Amino acid sequence: MQEIGVGMVGYSFMGRAHSNAYRQVPFFYPEVAIKPVMKAICGRTRDAVDAAAKQMGWEEAVYDFDQLLDRDDIGLIDINTPNNVHVAMVIKAAQAGKHIICEKPLGMNVAETEAALKAVREAGVVHMLCHNYRRIPAVWLAKDMIEAGLIGDIYHWRATYLQDWLMDPSAPLFWRCQKEIAGSGALGDLMAHSIDLALWLVGDIDHVCGSWRTFVKQRPKLESTDAGLGGAGSEQMGDVTVDDATVALAQFANGALGTFEATRFAPGHKNSNCFEINGSKGSIRFNLERLNELGYYNAEDPGEEAGFATIIANADCHPFQGLPDGGPRYWPGGHNIGYEHTFINTIYDLLEGIARGESPHPNFEDGVKIQKVLAAVEQSCESANWIQV
Ligand SMILES: NC(=O)c1ccc[n+]([C@@H]2O[C@H](COP(=O)([O-])OP(=O)(O)OC[C@H]3O[C@@H](n4cnc5c(N)ncnc54)[C@H](O)[C@@H]3O)[C@@H](O)[C@H]2O)c1
Repeated sequence: MQEIGVGMVGYSFMGRAHSNAYRQVPFFYPEVAIKPVMKAICGRTRDAVDAAAKQMGWEEAVYDFDQLLDRDDIGLIDINTPNNVHVAMVIKAAQAGKHIICEKPLGMNVAETEAALKAVREAGVVHMLCHNYRRIPAVWLAKDMIEAGLIGDIYHWRATYLQDWLMDPSAPLFWRCQKEIAGSGALGDLMAHSIDLALWLVGDIDHVCGSWRTFVKQRPKLESTDAGLGGAGSEQMGDVTVDDATVALAQFANGALGTFEATRFAPGHKNSNCFEINGSKGSIRFNLERLNELGYYNAEDPGEEAGFATIIANADCHPFQGLPDGGPRYWPGGHNIGYEHTFINTIYDLLEGIARGESPHPNFEDGVKIQKVLAAVEQSCESANWIQV
């Protein structure tokens, strides 16, 4: 079997999720065209990178991004760093002729994402953006059902992405609270996922109107700038420069109306990424916290027993689930899959894309489109006007 060496940068939350996916793909996708080989993981803090390499199964640890690019045995670069360094890394990796998967959002602004797209196009490398929620079987099934006309013409898109992990005012001012590193807060972190799904499931967005708030305006500065949410806060306070919550209205090009709400301040909601789509023939609804399920209402169902049905979307017939020669890819139907499988499915499609020389969706073209919507929402929040995307 053909192999590709992988070089990864960033080794924390997403670094773990992606590392697990490289380990699992050949096990759950025995038909994969190219087997990933976990060559080297890169980070800035020597001891921490060494420990991560050992724990997650990387052959080597390196401490400079360029060291990943100089090697002939690495063909794929996987970027899991904070948002402000994505595009510089993408451009360098493309110029070195490496295929690329990058975490979302692709960049800090539209100009940056366009530069990333130009670089991968000029280099002719395969590129993918890690909006892994597209590859949840229930979400892919929703797409198939929409394409098959089961809910008819779409009238409404309604997305809420609710979390509560930042509510404690003593939580430190780590990178996700700083505009110069994150670009934005709940908007680029959470609503970016909802926008990606809306563009894929409903279509292009024409106009948006948004509003945002920062509820906790100052937080203790971190003692070490390298630390994350769990890092020790100092006595000194610093300004939170991103949104804690953003809401937006949207008009889609096909006439549908959309609403979006993204917040880190919804007590009880851990990772409640929900959407509902209402059309002329029925409705579809999804909640990430119950990711094996897809709700479906068929408006043509007669009788008093009509109502939302719950499809458990993990039987062999469902997307990503059956092996080519029959039988379950993961587990028999009803034996649920989880968050990590969304990354396994994503990395599988990336490897197949590399084998075919095609960039699987969402790729950097989608990344530019998503960033244009994010920028329009931001502009609307600042100006209190409807903004054309
Ligand atoms: N697809 C998803 O569902 C999803 C979920 C969470 C995060 N993300 C995205 O993944 C990216 C990383 O987020 P995370 O939650 O893993 O963050 P994290 O803070 O847990 O990890 C960031 C990693 O990057 C390293 N790092 C920080 N600055 C760096 C720099 N300048 N150069 C090299 N390495 C650097 C850190 O040491 C750490 O290993 C972000 O872009 C985020 O938006 C996506």
